Amino acid sequence: MPVIHDLIDGFGPGIAARPPRSRFDTDAEEIALSGTWRFALHERASDAPDRPVRGEGTIPVPAHWQLHGHGKPAYTNVTYPFPVDPPHVPDRNPVGDYQREVELPDLAGRHVLLRFDGIDNAAEVWLNDERIGTTKGSRNTHEFDVTRAARQGTNDLRVRVVQWSATSYLEDQDMWWLSGIFRPVHVLLRPAEAIDDLRIDADYDPATGDGVLRVDIDSAAPEARVRIAQLGVDAASGEEIRIPGVRPWSAEDPALYSLVVETAAERATVRVGFRRVEISGAQILVNGVPVLFRGVNRHDHHPDRGRAVTERDMREDLVLMKRSNVNAIRTSHYPPQPFLLDLADELGFWVIDEADVETHGFSEVGERSNPIDDPAWRDALVDRIQRMVARDRNHPSIVMWSLGNESGAGRNLADMREAALSLDGSRPIHYERDYTFRHSDVFSLMYVDHERLEKIGRFEPVTLPRHAVILSDEGELSGLDDKPFILCEYAHAMGTGPGGLEEYQELFRRYPRLQGGFIWEWFEHGIAPDGGSGRTWFAYGGDFGEPVHDGNFVADGVVAADRTGRPALADLKQVFRPVDIRVGTDAVTITNWQERSGTGRFAFVARTVQLDGSTITHPIDVPPIAPGEEIVMPFQTPPDASVVTVSAVTADDAAWAPAGHEVAWGERLVRRPDPSPSSRGEWTVARDGIANGAVRILGPTLGVWRAPTDNDLATRMVQLGGTSEARAWDELALHTPIARSIDRGADGPLDRRTRWGFPGRDVGFDESIRFSHDDGALRVDARFEPVGPWDPEATVPRIGLDWVIPEGGPATRVRWFGRGLRQAYPDTGAGAGMGWFDGTVGDLQEHYLRPQENGLRADVSILEIELEEGRLMLSGEPFAFTLRPWTDAELAGAAHPHELPDDTGRLVLSVNARVHGVGTAACGPGVLPQHRLHPQRADLSLRWAVSSR
Ligand code: GAL
Repeated sequence: MPVIHDLIDGFGPGIAARPPRSRFDTDAEEIALSGTWRFALHERASDAPDRPVRGEGTIPVPAHWQLHGHGKPAYTNVTYPFPVDPPHVPDRNPVGDYQREVELPDLAGRHVLLRFDGIDNAAEVWLNDERIGTTKGSRNTHEFDVTRAARQGTNDLRVRVVQWSATSYLEDQDMWWLSGIFRPVHVLLRPAEAIDDLRIDADYDPATGDGVLRVDIDSAAPEARVRIAQLGVDAASGEEIRIPGVRPWSAEDPALYSLVVETAAERATVRVGFRRVEISGAQILVNGVPVLFRGVNRHDHHPDRGRAVTERDMREDLVLMKRSNVNAIRTSHYPPQPFLLDLADELGFWVIDEADVETHGFSEVGERSNPIDDPAWRDALVDRIQRMVARDRNHPSIVMWSLGNESGAGRNLADMREAALSLDGSRPIHYERDYTFRHSDVFSLMYVDHERLEKIGRFEPVTLPRHAVILSDEGELSGLDDKPFILCEYAHAMGTGPGGLEEYQELFRRYPRLQGGFIWEWFEHGIAPDGGSGRTWFAYGGDFGEPVHDGNFVADGVVAADRTGRPALADLKQVFRPVDIRVGTDAVTITNWQERSGTGRFAFVARTVQLDGSTITHPIDVPPIAPGEEIVMPFQTPPDASVVTVSAVTADDAAWAPAGHEVAWGERLVRRPDPSPSSRGEWTVARDGIANGAVRILGPTLGVWRAPTDNDLATRMVQLGGTSEARAWDELALHTPIARSIDRGADGPLDRRTRWGFPGRDVGFDESIRFSHDDGALRVDARFEPVGPWDPEATVPRIGLDWVIPEGGPATRVRWFGRGLRQAYPDTGAGAGMGWFDGTVGDLQEHYLRPQENGLRADVSILEIELEEGRLMLSGEPFAFTLRPWTDAELAGAAHPHELPDDTGRLVLSVNARVHGVGTAACGPGVLPQHRLHPQRADLSLRWAVSSR
């Protein structure tokens, strides 16, 4: 089988594709081949006949075959799921044969091109029984000229796709392995003298405000005109045109002009944005102004369709990003569908477009044979860069090219960089994983902790963080003083977290060299195991029976797979706010944190929650504030105010949000409301609980453990030789507190002292609790003191009291005064403001793909729980609570949310005096010192009451 052998084992790029070129709208005819194709899967390449067959089955295109009943998705992060034996792959290499008929009109005088925007992993294209060529580079566009093989009428198009090939070594991104024709396929009918390619150079001169436009085209046509009606431009291609007074393009103000290029044979339209990217004084400037990336890493993902995302999906994603104050996207770790870049141009995002290159798995074999340093792979690597740059260079949103992700350092990088620059010299190049940074115009790292980041901001030398040290022996990084710094990944958003966002942003604001970063990542890549019908849970690594996998490390986004925002999204939105608002006692201070626009696009509104729970809202007149400027507005706090919030909202409708969309807020807690005085009946206190009529509450017991979060477990860091908080807490056996009464003299249960210890350990807490009756309510005053030889570095997840209410469930209603609506840990919750909130117990839960501690509501002074027998009210000095149908142990024991029983017939209420932060140790730094909870004295003062409903 010589043909397929080359497809599978060849080092090189695909064969016979046309040179890459830019994408534009055209009036030339295009035929979309999306729809149902015939399909047959051969389990092994060696079982496949010489030519692709016309299968008995069918499959949609675009789609992944594993999501349509053929084979199963598999997830690994770094590890190749096959032996590292480049360029070879295993015999068990599924081959998918696709076939469909294509009806073509009269082709006289036209060229016929076939365009494939994405086939994972490599493919061979056949038309009317003729082998046309091959594609390699799953996320790269390949076009074939099939004019000779095509005919008017019915054509037989076949595509043979292999799941694995040499190319798989270049595509080791941290994501599901999914195969098939997953991006659209088109037939392009190209007139003679068509526009083959067009290259737009639309520079903006910040000194004069002039745009300088030049459009070069490749065409056999003798003449081409270039027009921008709005600007009165009408010129020949190849001519340089200076246009005074253009509105420059930026992510804040994405001004686009519609450009028409016309030959006698074809009319092409492209949207153009004028802008200049440059590096000067260790800063990235766009249009002369430094940028601050408030970015996210974005993969293509959909829970039913995998990476076969639709235009609608992409629009929804980018609209949500825009609404969440995200202004930058790194297309981790491959070029996206071109439509995504159209959207980025239109809505306004700074984009780092990244080549489809990752060879991370070689780090697990000591970098031996890493393609990045092996000349045999040079052409394939260069081809990937060229295909990206040639296709995407006309997009104003792209401000940097990235050579790829986590591929180590090696000789091919120089040629990759050169290839990018020779196609487009107008943008800087990014590459993170060669720590000399000789191939990168920017200094870029991932998951750097705040302390190192600050040093980088001050141009001080730093050592690499743990994950990088493992891969490099460069030691200290210095001598990079001319380079701006970005965090190409940070704030790993896996499970409960990420902690420390606000602190990162503060450093980005403080040091001009630090130009922001890109959160890891936008989506959780959960897959709907039932094809999406039930949507009760999402699968992660291992759920499809993969022998080698990385579990739920595939789920680390601020947006769940079904596109609902996690609490982290609300936090990020507030941390990325374009204006900062501080509400004082008699003034509001507003700072414009935008780079280039005034605040004219925003209106300001004050909302006061009164002590009686009612709300007063009124607009505030704020004069325009220039970028970087601050204004202090007198502000009268209403007399019965409890919480005053001042918000900035969009003044007009935008493409991404209607007028009135809140972009930022600041608040002041003036006074907490008093708990309702009414209390019904008599409280009784027994050893094992308290009761008021039919309302019973069991407990309390000491609560110093939590169901480990992904950050507490830090599985990846442990793999890399680090440690984890969860392990330390396990060693202390914090999950099993054991009580011994130490006040043997006292008889009543009203005043008790208990020593809490843990099996096999000699450290613990002394707890004293005093119950007292208070006007129909029951007061509980508790104090905790650590005892024994605690390690000074030791931490505990929380210090509090756990109670069990033997009734209720997910539908039980709750209401609280404190921070909300979503969860808030000591180092998260920037998006959670003060006020009254309500919902059900079910609403309080945040169902991450792997169950873990979640749903903490902080700074609460009143909590009401609607029970059958009456309204239970808990008030007191601000506490942080969780309320769920499960114990921490049950939560920790489940691998997926649907494994947690709904009908436990009880509610577990944890009321905490103090809580440990969550950090981002799943991949990155742990909890910052100021958010760590060491064993220490803590007090809780609570008041229980019951009223009739
Ligand atoms: C980085 C990598 C990402 C992802 C992340 C952890 O090392 O570039 O692709 O794996 O870590 O989730």
